[in-house]
Amino acid sequence: MKNFLVIGNPIEHSLSPKLHNYWIKINNLNAIYNKKKLEISELEILIKDVRERKIHGINVTVPFKNNIIPFLDKLSSEAEKTQSVNTIYLKDDIVVGHNTDIEGFELAIKNIKYDVSGKKVLLLGAGGVSPSIILALSKMRANKILISNRTQSKAENLKKTFKEIEIVEWGAIPNFDMIINATSLGLKDNENINIDYSKVGSGKLFYDVIYNPSETKFLKSAKKTGNKGENGKKMFIYQAQASFKIWNSLEPTIDEKVMELVN
Ligand code: ATR
Repeated sequence: MKNFLVIGNPIEHSLSPKLHNYWIKINNLNAIYNKKKLEISELEILIKDVRERKIHGINVTVPFKNNIIPFLDKLSSEAEKTQSVNTIYLKDDIVVGHNTDIEGFELAIKNIKYDVSGKKVLLLGAGGVSPSIILALSKMRANKILISNRTQSKAENLKKTFKEIEIVEWGAIPNFDMIINATSLGLKDNENINIDYSKVGSGKLFYDVIYNPSETKFLKSAKKTGNKGENGKKMFIYQAQASFKIWNSLEPTIDEKVMELVN
Protein backbone atom coordinates (compact mmCIF):
# COMPACT_ATOMS: atom_id res chain seq x y z
CA MET A 1 0.00 0.00 0.00
CA LYS A 2 1.23 3.48 -0.87
CA ASN A 3 1.34 6.18 1.79
CA PHE A 4 0.73 9.83 1.02
CA LEU A 5 0.77 12.72 3.44
CA VAL A 6 0.07 16.41 3.75
CA ILE A 7 2.20 18.18 6.33
CA GLY A 8 1.71 21.58 7.89
CA ASN A 9 1.08 23.38 11.15
CA PRO A 10 -1.84 23.78 11.74
CA ILE A 11 -3.19 20.99 9.54
CA GLU A 12 -6.64 20.04 10.99
CA HIS A 13 -8.53 22.04 8.38
CA SER A 14 -6.71 20.70 5.32
CA LEU A 15 -9.11 19.31 2.71
CA SER A 16 -6.35 17.53 0.78
CA PRO A 17 -7.00 14.09 2.41
CA LYS A 18 -10.70 14.23 1.44
CA LEU A 19 -9.84 15.03 -2.16
CA HIS A 20 -6.95 12.60 -2.62
CA ASN A 21 -8.70 9.71 -0.86
CA TYR A 22 -11.71 10.22 -3.13
CA TRP A 23 -9.47 10.01 -6.22
CA ILE A 24 -7.64 6.98 -4.74
CA LYS A 25 -10.98 5.23 -4.25
CA ILE A 26 -12.50 5.91 -7.66
CA ASN A 27 -9.28 4.82 -9.35
CA ASN A 28 -9.08 1.61 -7.27
CA LEU A 29 -5.59 2.38 -6.02
CA ASN A 30 -4.10 0.64 -3.02
CA ALA A 31 -3.13 3.78 -1.16
CA ILE A 32 -4.00 6.09 1.71
CA TYR A 33 -3.53 9.84 2.15
CA ASN A 34 -3.21 11.21 5.70
CA LYS A 35 -2.52 14.58 7.30
CA LYS A 36 0.20 15.21 9.85
CA LYS A 37 0.92 18.19 12.05
CA LEU A 38 4.67 18.63 12.38
CA GLU A 39 7.27 20.79 14.03
CA ILE A 40 10.14 22.13 11.93
CA SER A 41 12.57 19.84 13.79
CA GLU A 42 10.75 16.79 12.37
CA LEU A 43 11.16 17.64 8.68
CA GLU A 44 14.51 15.92 8.17
CA ILE A 45 13.41 12.54 9.53
CA LEU A 46 10.27 12.71 7.40
CA ILE A 47 12.29 13.07 4.22
CA LYS A 48 14.30 10.01 5.29
CA ASP A 49 11.00 8.08 5.15
CA VAL A 50 10.56 9.19 1.54
CA ARG A 51 14.08 8.05 0.69
CA GLU A 52 13.35 4.67 2.31
CA ARG A 53 10.09 4.37 0.41
CA LYS A 54 7.93 4.35 3.54
CA ILE A 55 6.16 7.46 2.25
CA HIS A 56 5.45 7.76 -1.48
CA GLY A 57 4.49 11.39 -1.73
CA ILE A 58 4.09 14.47 0.42
CA ASN A 59 2.13 17.68 0.03
CA VAL A 60 3.57 20.56 1.97
CA THR A 61 1.53 23.46 3.25
CA VAL A 62 1.96 26.49 5.54
CA PRO A 63 4.49 27.08 7.11
CA PHE A 64 6.90 24.54 5.57
CA LYS A 65 6.86 25.23 1.81
CA ASN A 66 10.20 26.98 2.06
CA ASN A 67 11.66 25.37 5.22
CA ILE A 68 11.56 21.91 3.67
CA ILE A 69 13.97 22.84 0.86
CA PRO A 70 17.32 22.13 2.65
CA PHE A 71 16.30 18.49 3.18
CA LEU A 72 15.51 17.73 -0.48
CA ASP A 73 17.97 16.45 -3.10
CA LYS A 74 16.66 18.38 -6.07
CA LEU A 75 14.15 21.08 -6.97
CA SER A 76 12.12 21.45 -10.14
CA SER A 77 12.72 24.74 -11.95
CA GLU A 78 9.36 26.04 -10.67
CA ALA A 79 10.20 25.19 -7.04
CA GLU A 80 13.66 26.70 -7.47
CA LYS A 81 12.40 29.99 -8.85
CA THR A 82 9.65 30.39 -6.24
CA GLN A 83 11.66 28.81 -3.38
CA SER A 84 8.40 27.07 -2.56
CA VAL A 85 7.68 23.33 -2.51
CA ASN A 86 4.21 21.84 -2.17
CA THR A 87 4.83 18.39 -3.70
CA ILE A 88 7.57 15.87 -2.90
CA TYR A 89 8.31 12.61 -4.69
CA LEU A 90 11.11 10.11 -5.18
CA LYS A 91 12.57 9.68 -8.65
CA ASP A 92 15.57 7.40 -9.33
CA ASP A 93 16.41 7.45 -5.60
CA ILE A 94 16.42 11.24 -5.58
CA VAL A 95 13.97 13.22 -3.42
CA VAL A 96 12.50 15.91 -5.64
CA GLY A 97 10.59 19.03 -4.57
CA HIS A 98 8.13 20.56 -7.00
CA ASN A 99 5.55 23.35 -6.88
CA THR A 100 2.11 22.65 -8.40
CA ASP A 101 0.57 25.90 -7.07
CA ILE A 102 1.76 27.64 -10.24
CA GLU A 103 -0.03 25.18 -12.49
CA GLY A 104 -3.02 25.27 -10.11
CA PHE A 105 -3.40 29.02 -10.49
CA GLU A 106 -2.83 28.95 -14.24
CA LEU A 107 -5.44 26.23 -14.83
CA ALA A 108 -7.96 27.97 -12.55
CA ILE A 109 -7.66 31.18 -14.58
CA LYS A 110 -7.89 29.29 -17.87
CA ASN A 111 -10.94 27.41 -16.57
CA ILE A 112 -12.87 30.67 -16.22
CA LYS A 113 -11.63 31.70 -19.68
CA TYR A 114 -9.88 34.84 -18.48
CA ASP A 115 -7.08 35.98 -20.75
CA VAL A 116 -4.26 37.43 -18.65
CA SER A 117 -2.09 38.38 -21.61
CA GLY A 118 -1.64 42.14 -21.89
CA LYS A 119 -3.45 42.78 -18.61
CA LYS A 120 -2.43 44.96 -15.68
CA VAL A 121 -2.56 42.88 -12.50
CA LEU A 122 -2.47 44.15 -8.92
CA LEU A 123 -1.30 41.51 -6.46
CA LEU A 124 -2.04 42.11 -2.78
CA GLY A 125 0.30 40.24 -0.43
CA ALA A 126 3.89 39.05 -0.49
CA GLY A 127 3.53 35.90 1.63
CA GLY A 128 3.99 32.22 0.87
CA VAL A 129 1.76 31.93 -2.21
CA SER A 130 2.77 35.17 -3.95
CA PRO A 131 5.90 33.91 -5.79
CA SER A 132 3.83 31.10 -7.36
CA ILE A 133 1.20 33.56 -8.54
CA ILE A 134 3.80 35.95 -9.96
CA LEU A 135 5.48 33.12 -11.89
CA ALA A 136 2.12 31.98 -13.28
CA LEU A 137 1.16 35.55 -14.26
CA SER A 138 4.48 36.03 -16.04
CA LYS A 139 4.05 32.71 -17.88
CA MET A 140 0.59 33.88 -18.96
CA ARG A 141 2.17 37.09 -20.27
CA ALA A 142 0.60 39.66 -18.00
CA ASN A 143 1.56 43.10 -19.25
CA LYS A 144 2.23 44.53 -15.79
CA ILE A 145 2.38 42.98 -12.31
CA LEU A 146 2.01 45.46 -9.46
CA ILE A 147 2.55 44.20 -5.93
CA SER A 148 1.41 45.74 -2.69
CA ASN A 149 2.19 44.41 0.78
CA ARG A 150 1.74 45.82 4.28
CA THR A 151 5.40 45.07 5.00
CA GLN A 152 7.07 46.61 1.96
CA SER A 153 10.45 44.92 2.53
CA LYS A 154 8.83 41.57 1.68
CA ALA A 155 7.67 42.94 -1.68
CA GLU A 156 11.19 44.27 -2.25
CA ASN A 157 12.59 40.80 -1.56
CA LEU A 158 10.28 39.34 -4.20
CA LYS A 159 11.46 41.93 -6.70
CA LYS A 160 15.01 40.56 -6.37
CA THR A 161 13.79 37.31 -7.96
CA PHE A 162 11.02 38.71 -10.14
CA LYS A 163 12.53 41.83 -11.69
CA GLU A 164 9.41 42.39 -13.77
CA ILE A 165 7.20 43.37 -10.80
CA GLU A 166 6.53 46.92 -9.64
CA ILE A 167 5.96 47.80 -6.00
CA VAL A 168 3.09 50.04 -4.95
CA GLU A 169 2.42 51.34 -1.46
CA TRP A 170 0.06 49.35 0.79
CA GLY A 171 -3.33 51.07 0.66
CA ALA A 172 -2.81 52.62 -2.78
CA ILE A 173 -5.10 51.13 -5.40
CA PRO A 174 -3.86 52.07 -8.88
CA ASN A 175 -5.80 51.26 -12.03
CA PHE A 176 -5.88 47.52 -12.84
CA ASP A 177 -7.63 44.86 -14.94
CA MET A 178 -7.27 42.08 -12.39
CA ILE A 179 -6.73 42.26 -8.63
CA ILE A 180 -5.63 39.28 -6.56
CA ASN A 181 -5.93 38.87 -2.81
CA ALA A 182 -2.99 36.74 -1.73
CA THR A 183 -3.05 38.01 1.85
CA SER A 184 -4.71 36.15 4.68
CA LEU A 185 -7.22 38.99 5.09
CA GLY A 186 -10.72 37.54 4.72
CA LEU A 187 -10.06 34.18 6.33
CA LYS A 188 -11.80 35.54 9.41
CA ASP A 189 -15.35 36.85 9.06
CA ASN A 190 -14.80 40.42 10.16
CA GLU A 191 -11.68 41.08 8.07
CA ASN A 192 -11.75 43.36 5.10
CA ILE A 193 -9.24 44.91 2.72
CA ASN A 194 -9.35 48.65 2.53
CA ILE A 195 -10.41 49.31 -1.06
CA ASP A 196 -12.59 52.17 -2.26
CA TYR A 197 -14.77 50.14 -4.61
CA SER A 198 -16.52 53.25 -5.96
CA LYS A 199 -13.24 54.22 -7.65
CA VAL A 200 -12.40 50.80 -9.11
CA GLY A 201 -14.83 50.82 -12.02
CA SER A 202 -16.47 47.72 -13.47
CA GLY A 203 -15.58 44.78 -15.70
CA LYS A 204 -12.51 43.78 -13.67
CA LEU A 205 -11.60 40.39 -12.28
CA PHE A 206 -11.29 40.05 -8.52
CA TYR A 207 -9.51 36.84 -7.59
CA ASP A 208 -9.22 35.65 -3.99
CA VAL A 209 -6.81 32.85 -3.15
CA ILE A 210 -9.04 32.15 -0.11
CA TYR A 211 -11.76 29.54 -0.70
CA ASN A 212 -13.05 29.13 2.84
CA PRO A 213 -15.16 31.23 3.32
CA SER A 214 -16.22 30.80 -0.31
CA GLU A 215 -17.13 34.46 -0.63
CA THR A 216 -14.97 36.91 1.28
CA LYS A 217 -15.95 40.56 1.72
CA PHE A 218 -13.45 41.29 -1.06
CA LEU A 219 -15.41 39.10 -3.51
CA LYS A 220 -18.83 40.25 -2.28
CA SER A 221 -17.97 43.93 -2.72
CA ALA A 222 -16.47 43.23 -6.15
CA LYS A 223 -19.63 41.58 -7.43
CA LYS A 224 -21.84 44.34 -6.02
CA THR A 225 -19.92 46.88 -8.06
CA GLY A 226 -20.22 45.04 -11.39
CA ASN A 227 -16.98 43.10 -11.30
CA LYS A 228 -16.34 39.41 -11.67
CA GLY A 229 -15.19 37.43 -8.63
CA GLU A 230 -13.49 34.08 -8.36
CA ASN A 231 -12.28 32.27 -5.23
CA GLY A 232 -9.30 29.95 -4.77
CA LYS A 233 -11.22 26.67 -4.83
CA LYS A 234 -10.29 25.67 -8.36
CA MET A 235 -6.65 26.60 -7.76
CA PHE A 236 -6.67 24.30 -4.76
CA ILE A 237 -8.25 21.45 -6.75
CA TYR A 238 -5.92 21.85 -9.74
CA GLN A 239 -2.77 21.88 -7.57
CA ALA A 240 -4.00 18.67 -5.93
CA GLN A 241 -4.74 17.12 -9.32
CA ALA A 242 -1.22 17.94 -10.52
CA SER A 243 0.34 16.32 -7.42
CA PHE A 244 -1.84 13.21 -7.81
CA LYS A 245 -0.78 12.93 -11.44
CA ILE A 246 2.92 13.05 -10.53
CA TRP A 247 2.59 10.33 -7.87
CA ASN A 248 0.17 7.97 -9.59
CA SER A 249 0.81 8.61 -13.29
CA LEU A 250 -2.84 9.22 -13.96
CA GLU A 251 -4.94 12.36 -14.18
CA PRO A 252 -7.90 12.20 -11.79
CA THR A 253 -11.16 13.75 -12.97
CA ILE A 254 -12.60 16.96 -11.59
CA ASP A 255 -16.34 16.38 -11.43
CA GLU A 256 -19.28 17.74 -9.43
CA LYS A 257 -18.43 15.44 -6.53
CA VAL A 258 -14.90 16.82 -6.35
CA MET A 259 -16.25 20.39 -6.37
CA GLU A 260 -18.62 19.46 -3.50
CA LEU A 261 -15.85 17.85 -1.45
CA VAL A 262 -14.07 21.17 -1.23
CA ASN A 263 -16.66 23.17 0.64
P1 ATR B 1 3.88 34.38 5.52
O1 ATR B 1 4.06 35.87 5.54
O2 ATR B 1 4.39 33.68 6.74
O3 ATR B 1 4.32 33.75 4.26
P2 ATR B 1 1.25 34.09 4.58
O4 ATR B 1 -0.01 33.65 5.27
O5 ATR B 1 1.71 33.34 3.42
O6 ATR B 1 2.33 34.15 5.70
O7 ATR B 1 1.11 35.61 4.14
C1 ATR B 1 0.31 36.46 4.81
C2 ATR B 1 0.10 37.68 3.91
O8 ATR B 1 -1.03 38.39 4.39
C3 ATR B 1 1.26 38.64 3.97
O9 ATR B 1 1.35 39.31 2.74
C4 ATR B 1 0.83 39.58 5.09
O10 ATR B 1 1.40 40.85 5.06
P3 ATR B 1 2.76 41.14 5.87
O11 ATR B 1 3.85 40.61 4.99
O12 ATR B 1 2.80 42.61 6.03
O13 ATR B 1 2.65 40.40 7.18
C5 ATR B 1 -0.63 39.69 4.79
N1 ATR B 1 -1.42 40.11 5.96
C6 ATR B 1 -1.79 39.35 7.01
N2 ATR B 1 -2.51 40.08 7.90
C7 ATR B 1 -2.59 41.33 7.38
C8 ATR B 1 -3.22 42.55 7.80
N3 ATR B 1 -3.89 42.63 8.96
N4 ATR B 1 -3.11 43.63 7.01
C9 ATR B 1 -2.43 43.56 5.83
N5 ATR B 1 -1.82 42.46 5.39
C10 ATR B 1 -1.90 41.35 6.13
